Amino acid sequence: MRVALVGARGHGARHVENLVRLGHDGLATFVGVVDVADVDVPVPSYSDLETLAAELHPEVVVVSSPPATHRDLVLAAFELGCDVLVEKPAVVSVADFDEISDEAVKRGLVCQVGFQTQGTGSYRRLCSLIGSGALGDITGIGAAGRWVRTDSYYERAEWAGRQGEDGTLVNPFAHALQNALLLADVEERADIGVELELYRCRDTISADDTACVRVTADDAPPVVVATTLCATTSLPPVVLVHGSLGQAIWWYDDDRLTVNDHRMAVAPSVDLLENLLRHRLTGEPLVAPLAAARAFTTVAERCGKADVPLLPARRVGDRVVLDGIDEVVVRAAEKIATFAELGCGFGR
Ligand SMILES: NC(=O)c1ccc[n+]([C@@H]2O[C@H](COP(=O)([O-])OP(=O)(O)OC[C@H]3O[C@@H](n4cnc5c(N)ncnc54)[C@H](O)[C@@H]3O)[C@@H](O)[C@H]2O)c1
Repeated sequence: MRVALVGARGHGARHVENLVRLGHDGLATFVGVVDVADVDVPVPSYSDLETLAAELHPEVVVVSSPPATHRDLVLAAFELGCDVLVEKPAVVSVADFDEISDEAVKRGLVCQVGFQTQGTGSYRRLCSLIGSGALGDITGIGAAGRWVRTDSYYERAEWAGRQGEDGTLVNPFAHALQNALLLADVEERADIGVELELYRCRDTISADDTACVRVTADDAPPVVVATTLCATTSLPPVVLVHGSLGQAIWWYDDDRLTVNDHRMAVAPSVDLLENLLRHRLTGEPLVAPLAAARAFTTVAERCGKADVPLLPARRVGDRVVLDGIDEVVVRAAEKIATFAELGCGFGR
């Protein structure tokens, strides 16, 4: 299967490695790269997708460029008759989501979204534990994302820290939000309630660096995701599933799962591009289809439009620290409570 990549630096470097690996395994032919910058890749590179396609005829396109470019690139790939793996956030407006979804259906093409933790064995194990009733009735899904990020984090790309493209729930902790929505089984729903509290501790950015969202829907457990990039100490991102018979703790980046403090065995991960290629060959179901990103996109759109007040925070060298936030994000996930409900000074 002939695969092209759009966006080869940054996160795209991982796709380059993966495509080279799949080439060695005989699963894909990595035909070329599209990038607006000069890139150091072992395949021909082009400045636009149409020129690459005219010469190299890809069947699948991986899009790993900045979020604001995704809509046009995905539609251009569809126009060329290609299936797509697009990085998260696939798009940041519901109108774009609907347009891409409709276009895919019209053309009989598919779009996978780069939520790679949906391919982990720990995710599948957790889903089957919830489905079998092993955790009892699910009363809430909480997630906490807590990282220390220095000034250089916001200097790495033009869109970093820009509201509408970036923000903790939309980008660095997008997996936490998406995973929580999936486990609550609301990922495809349009009828969700969204309560947002977004803050920023740097006046150099317009997006949030500290956030809490609660998502509710009829007949579904409530979801709370609390995130910050202004922590004193980082923590591996974690999803908590609260059930009447016990609690599951899922460290999705580490593919690690415990239930009532017992470590659970997990099967190997499924690579999203391999899965997409096998979908084309054998009809294997997609692990992270675009349809499962509807609720996520609703939250992302709201994040792009919400007020993001500036909080007084402490500068420590090349980072900014919001005192107390380390404990608060964890408590929000544990209690399924918002910042305001936890009585934070900055909660609205
Ligand atoms: N799945 C994950 O865990 C994960 C991790 C990090 C980033 N991402 C996502 O990957 C995407 C890229 O993020 P990044 O940090 O690598 O971005 P980036 O700004 O570093 O850009 C990536 C590449 O895209 C190129 N590019 C920019 N505009 C382009 C255009 N119009 N056409 C072609 N190429 C273009 C850049 O030159 C660069 O090589 C984002 O959507 C981001 O959220 C996903």
